[in-house]
Amino acid sequence: MTKARENKGQILDRLSRVMDQKMGLGPEGKFFFAPSRINLIGEHIDYNGGQVFPCAITIGTYGLARPNDLGKLRLGSLNLKTFGEVAYPLPDYDNQRGWINYPIGVFRYLEDLGYGQEKKGQGLDILIYGNIPNGAGLSSSSSIELLFAVIFDHFLAGGKVDRMDMVRSGVWCENEFFGLHTGIMDQYVIGFGKKDYAMVLDTSVPSHTYVPFELKGARIVIMNTRKPRALKDSKYNERRSECEKALNILRKDRDIRHLCDLGKEDLPLLEKIRDTTMRKRAKYVVEENIRVKEAVQALKDQDLVKLGRILRAGNKALREEYEVTGPELDAITGAANAHPDCYGARMTGAGFGGCAIAIVKEGAIEDFKARVGSAYKKETGREGEFIISEVGDGARLIEE
Ligand code: GLA
Repeated sequence: MTKARENKGQILDRLSRVMDQKMGLGPEGKFFFAPSRINLIGEHIDYNGGQVFPCAITIGTYGLARPNDLGKLRLGSLNLKTFGEVAYPLPDYDNQRGWINYPIGVFRYLEDLGYGQEKKGQGLDILIYGNIPNGAGLSSSSSIELLFAVIFDHFLAGGKVDRMDMVRSGVWCENEFFGLHTGIMDQYVIGFGKKDYAMVLDTSVPSHTYVPFELKGARIVIMNTRKPRALKDSKYNERRSECEKALNILRKDRDIRHLCDLGKEDLPLLEKIRDTTMRKRAKYVVEENIRVKEAVQALKDQDLVKLGRILRAGNKALREEYEVTGPELDAITGAANAHPDCYGARMTGAGFGGCAIAIVKEGAIEDFKARVGSAYKKETGREGEFIISEVGDGARLIEE
């Protein structure tokens, strides 16, 4: 069920070999890594000025990069087995270019901010490989964006790029290039993630603090439904616009910037929203923000029973009020939450397929995988995937 993953050394060897084969011999390259992320709780509220509680994990995207004197970017992906090149000045977005739009978007955004002027036109060879399951909602796209941002910083800007600008380059790519109106959570935690710490990210500023990510006697299990995320993008934008409409209605009576400016005591105000769907979405948002604060405290207190209960409540609300789960996520979280040694499970990320997370007692992980895997298969016909990953650092140069 769980495939053996290549270790870091094997991945770096493969990148070096393929770079030499496909792009010819050249100067010694450098290795970079950008993690993917899970979100413990605080879903779909990063675009509502809420607090979210993600962490960077140790699976992600590796890159090998070296300068060339060709005045262009030569790019390759080992996952997609595609190679391509783009010359300076970097062109506009083009659907035909697929993933190569990522480096174009990130580089252009950073160039527009004035970075890299002294190295303008410097060519680079870049080969990437991600060990994140495809389309799994662990934010492989933000991982790629931040990988290119640190490569740009290293080779073209002498390490001068502000981390926040790297984060913004990724968000800009999603919003402007791909038309996906995502929030800031994924790029932010991939940019600022810290080994063994979860991040409390206040998206209304944005600013963050860290909380030690310790689960006494338990582990986080990532559960991949392996359900392709067909409707994800359009539904995502739809939810975002529902929230904006709800906010505009409430603003007639209250001076608020975001839905998450409202607290528990303000819930009666939501009655002003006549449309029941929109009211349901707004209620979800306000209550999810409250759940995040409670979950942060529960983790600090090492009260895993309480933390698990909050995760379950969040998942139920995502299913019934925000309606972003779907049969596969419901099946896998349902089976996980029925396991006696699971404190709590919920979907993570945008939803409509992708991954869920569960907090499971350490000694019970094998039994958990077996039982949840078979219940999930029985209900959906799909083979789930279970991943145990550590909490790791943000995007960076990893080896000279
Ligand atoms: C995606 C987006 C994030 C966030 C989550 C849902 O991962 O990129 O900005 O909105 O969905 O919490």
